[in-house]
This record gives sequence, C-alpha cells and structure tokens, in this order.
Amino acid sequence: GAPVEVDVSKVEPGQLIRVEWRGKPVWIVRRTQDTLDALSKHDNQLRDPASEQPQQPDYAQNGYRSIKPELFVAVGLCTHLGCSPTYLPDSFGEQVQGITSGFFCPCHGSKFDMAGRVFQSVPAPLNLVIPPYYYVNDATILVG
Ligand code: FES
Repeated sequence: GAPVEVDVSKVEPGQLIRVEWRGKPVWIVRRTQDTLDALSKHDNQLRDPASEQPQQPDYAQNGYRSIKPELFVAVGLCTHLGCSPTYLPDSFGEQVQGITSGFFCPCHGSKFDMAGRVFQSVPAPLNLVIPPYYYVNDATILVG
C-alpha cells in the first residue's frame, strides 16, 4: 500500500480523525495539555507503560507514544481480535468500565489509555500498534 498523506492542521484539540492505510483504520488524535498531563498518573495500572515490547517503533517508546506529544497516531484496531475500539474523549465526562478517557473495545472489554496503552486485566495483550509515520512539515504527516 502507498503511504497516506494527512493534513493534521485542522484536527481540533480532543478530535479524532480516521484515515485508511493498507486497509486498516489509522487514528489521529490531537491531545490537549490536560490529557498529556494525566497520562503518567495511571502507569501502575498498565501492562506495558513504557512500551518496551519490541514491535513498537522507536518513537512510540516514550510516555506519549508519539513523535510530537500532542498528536497521537495509532492503528485503530484492538490488539486482542481486531475489533474497533470506541474513542472516549476527555470531554465525554462519564466512566465506561472504569475509565473516563481513552479507548474501549466493546467486543471483550479491553481498555487503552489516551496513548493507546493497554490496561492490565483485559484480554488485549499489547498496546495499540503505532504505524510508521513522519512529519513532512508542521501541518502534514505521511503514514506508511
Ligand atoms: Fe477487543 Fe477482544 S477484540 S477486546
């Protein structure tokens, strides 16, 4: 599949946009500073908080799991059996299965935080997959 160019300049804080890459959904979320500040607070509830599992690109091996902290880019498929998790933005304001923001998979209840890091005690074994991508310029990324 060809790389996909995405204009990220119009993605609003808290918004998630979807693009398709190699037949898979790729999510791009602009995280707010509050979201970023909250990320480190629940490290002890995660399976792999530092993304040390080897199948992650280098730029996913930090607390934000991204090249630029504010822009989260991930393959939008649950790492259990590939269902499509539901996005729970910070503005959602309700708890779903114990989380107030992040991604919740309705198929078997896996939960991921706003960096796509999987919580303990759910069926999904791994953090959400981060695809290859890079910044062409401040407004544009190339996925693939
Ligand atoms: Fe997501 Fe099973 S496919 S929890």
